[in-house]
Amino acid sequence: MRKPLIAGNWKMHKTLAEAAALAKELKDSLGTMTDIDIVVAPSFTLLNTVVTTVRDSAIAVAGQNCYPRPSGAFTGEISAEQLKDCGCAYGIIGHSERRQLCGESNAFINQKVVALLSSGLRPILCIGETLEERESGQMLTILKEQLVSGLRQVLPQQAGEVVVAYEPVWAIGTGKTASSAQAEEVHAFVRDTLGKLFGHDCAQKSRILYGGSVKPANIDELMTQPNIDGALVGGASLQADDFIKIVSFTRP
Ligand code: PGA
Repeated sequence: MRKPLIAGNWKMHKTLAEAAALAKELKDSLGTMTDIDIVVAPSFTLLNTVVTTVRDSAIAVAGQNCYPRPSGAFTGEISAEQLKDCGCAYGIIGHSERRQLCGESNAFINQKVVALLSSGLRPILCIGETLEERESGQMLTILKEQLVSGLRQVLPQQAGEVVVAYEPVWAIGTGKTASSAQAEEVHAFVRDTLGKLFGHDCAQKSRILYGGSVKPANIDELMTQPNIDGALVGGASLQADDFIKIVSFTRP
């Protein structure tokens, strides 16, 4: 059995005071939950405050990105070591906003996955197709390339630490969620691809999250699918009430 994981991606939102207040509300409501892994990913400037606020609770903290070198003359960047030092346990890598807005390639994303694993952090590797790629029949080719390239040099014994997040680009922040059947089709494909890369047992243990307009109203349906192990939540993770409802989805 795979333990579900719900992660909140706060993107470029919140001041220090707002982040501390949200983290406290989440800790008070969810901090003792043991049947699920809960992760929040605030901006870098908020990490220390959020890590301090959720300390000694079940809530883990993720960076939203990292640079794939341990230290050095890389102005404006943050290393996996620095995330670890700050108290993070996860790092989100390859989010479609970074692929599109910052031009991140699969090869660069792969370096970051390797850097996080070397620092003892769990990568949340995001993959996803655009609407054009889906409609032109290239979806599975694109997703396979993102996955295979993103996981290059990852050893089978490390692969279980990697969380994959399937986030169709057309569903992010648009209010359009993939149907549970559309998501399940891709999740099953991702698990099959992981099996070919790392073996069946590893693929069965790997967690695959769905992301893209996840909200309290659709989480239950998504979580009934056999290969959906949780969610990466953007907009709905910014209000405590919504995120708490999502984490409290109806268990089978
Ligand atoms: P959304 O974002 O839930 O606001 O669609 C998801 C994400 O970008 O991770």
